[in-house]
Amino acid sequence: MADSNLKGRSAFVAGGSSGINLTIAKRFAGEGMKVAVFSRSEEKIAKAVEELKAINPDCAGYTGDVRDLEAVKSAMTAAADELGPFDVLLSGAAGNFLASALDMSSNAFRAVVDIDLIGTFHACKAAHEFMVKPGGSIINISAPQAFVAYPMQSHVNAAKAGIEMLTKTLAVEWGHDGLRVNTIIPGPISETEGMDRLAPSVEHREKLAKRLPLRRFGTKDEVADLAVFLASDQAAYITGASIAVDGGMSLMGPAMMMPPA
Ligand code: HXC
Ligand code: NAP
Repeated sequence: MADSNLKGRSAFVAGGSSGINLTIAKRFAGEGMKVAVFSRSEEKIAKAVEELKAINPDCAGYTGDVRDLEAVKSAMTAAADELGPFDVLLSGAAGNFLASALDMSSNAFRAVVDIDLIGTFHACKAAHEFMVKPGGSIINISAPQAFVAYPMQSHVNAAKAGIEMLTKTLAVEWGHDGLRVNTIIPGPISETEGMDRLAPSVEHREKLAKRLPLRRFGTKDEVADLAVFLASDQAAYITGASIAVDGGMSLMGPAMMMPPA
């Protein structure tokens, strides 16, 4: 593949202080990008920035909640001042817990929809004025739950499905501005908060892995590979796409609940 052309460009990563999103932020920094990360916890942001600066000193961190549009705007204003306009927005802040719809309060359902879906809307909307146009790439993080109705996940299923249509709509509305908008659909990714919450025991994770077409969980680096591609000029004609890096999980539907084929 040709060079990624990302050197010297800048990225804002919403929800970038841990897990998959931090691995992506680090990969961007490794490609020579200036990277800003944003999340709620001061402690997590400080640690993430330290790790990022060890890769590329031109990195920064900001604390705030994606549910608060003004907080997102003010972090982006500061990041654009410090690192320049964004070539890439990666929006991946999310919350999750296992609960049936009947065991969820209105606020419990709303908390996840607010973080995942409204938070993604806030990140995209606030980033628009700071994005490099033409040429900017927005990457939203979705999940197989957007396509398959997993039980105990009504809040996440609804929120991630919303992210899919939001992404496609923005691809149509903002294509004329020279912006591309796509989603990445990670499958079960090892050593993440998300999978620790959904499959807390080793036995559970092993059982789940055996049901996947590729028979294993993915790695955070495998998700970062796709993020680098979507951020780069090699993906210049890709917009409104939902690309899975999920070992075939999205294809399985209810078969995920059955013994391996
Ligand atoms: C039922 C629950 C609950 C549970 C919380 N709530 N946990 N209800 N069962 N297990 C309810 C609370 O009682 C409250 O409702 C409401 O949810 C909001 O909870 P708070 O703690 O006040 O919210 P907040 O501090 O905003 O935290 C949001 C959060 C939290 C989502 C609840 O877990 C969080 O911050 N998570 C971020 C990290 C994370 O989840 N990472 C994983 C992302 S992975 P009441 O009515 O009492 O007020 C992911 C994977 C997807 O998305 C795909 C994998 C394949
Ligand atoms: P994670 O480590 O918990 O990452 C979530 C990030 O979002 C953290 O940096 C967190 O930092 C931030 N965040 C959460 N709520 C926020 C809020 N209200 N405002 C701002 N930032 C917030 O989880 P992960 O498992 O790596 O998941 C990362 C992304 O991949 C998510 O979008 C998730 O849905 C998706 N995904 C994960 C998997 C998986 O296997 N793990 C599978 C499919 C999709 P703070 O706590 O500091 O706010």
